[in-house]
Amino acid sequence: MTISEQAIKGKVAIIGAGDVGATTAYALMMSGSVSEIVLVDIDHEKAEGEAMDLRHGASFVKPVDIYAGDYEDAHDADVVIIAAGASQKPGETRLELLGRNVDIFHDMIPRITDGLADDAVLLVVANPVDVLSYVTWKVSGLPRHRVIGTGTVLDTARFRNVLSENCNIDARNVHAYVIGEHGDGEVLVWSATHMAGVPFDDYCPVCDLDCDMQNREVIAEEVRGAAYEIIDRKGATYYAIGLATTEIVESIIRDENSILTVSTLLDGQYGLEDVYLSLPAVVNRGGIRRVVDLDLDEREREQFVESGEMLKEEIGKLDI
Ligand code: LAC
Repeated sequence: MTISEQAIKGKVAIIGAGDVGATTAYALMMSGSVSEIVLVDIDHEKAEGEAMDLRHGASFVKPVDIYAGDYEDAHDADVVIIAAGASQKPGETRLELLGRNVDIFHDMIPRITDGLADDAVLLVVANPVDVLSYVTWKVSGLPRHRVIGTGTVLDTARFRNVLSENCNIDARNVHAYVIGEHGDGEVLVWSATHMAGVPFDDYCPVCDLDCDMQNREVIAEEVRGAAYEIIDRKGATYYAIGLATTEIVESIIRDENSILTVSTLLDGQYGLEDVYLSLPAVVNRGGIRRVVDLDLDEREREQFVESGEMLKEEIGKLDI
């Protein structure tokens, strides 16, 4: 293979050039894993400004073409990231955004999908991400495996970070998952948490540190409440979600088959179907290849089902 044949190829369209869209573009640009990024926003000037600012960093990163465009420019993208819509204000839950964002999605999704490449994957970031992923899947008519939500990839990273800091272990060696709703009903899967293959329940009691890690509710609150804490202080979250989104895009574009806790349409897992929720899933160029079954304990299973039923109720109220 010649050098030019090996050149990185991959086009990503980012719909919504607000904090999350622009930061995702920045993270993607630095990743060196895509060749083209188009930013689309109803405020075209904002998208242009972001693209210009990013382009001026060209001499510090691998070659990547970044520009502002229209919905048509998303049609030949490999991945379309949907980061448009209203975002949380201090104290507001993700679900409270639903009404405003569903209307935006009804108008926007057909503009993206009419003319979309046959193998493009839609990646929904906007909140409430699980319900909006469902809306995107319904309105687009695309196969389920090509409509993904960023889901709890970020919450999983937060959980690993909290455990890493408390246990003084490199976050990359902490294996832990958050599943379910990206929101107040998310489930920390303690039963599947392990350090170097040692189950957390066995690791924790014999660890050399003197801490109160047994207090799992405190940890759960820290992970679940992370976005509220950040929004209270700086008005929005965007760095970590930008990196989480980049991780998912890389797994798609580079056909990595990485396992990520993305939001996907359930078809019978834990008795739930016709709702989007996060579970560990194998992600590759086709989108979601398969979902991995976790052997949840009774409480985790109950929490998962409870938040799934609640989201199904929210979906039931929508006119889609
Ligand atoms: C957060 C937003 C992305 O959790 O929902 O930071």
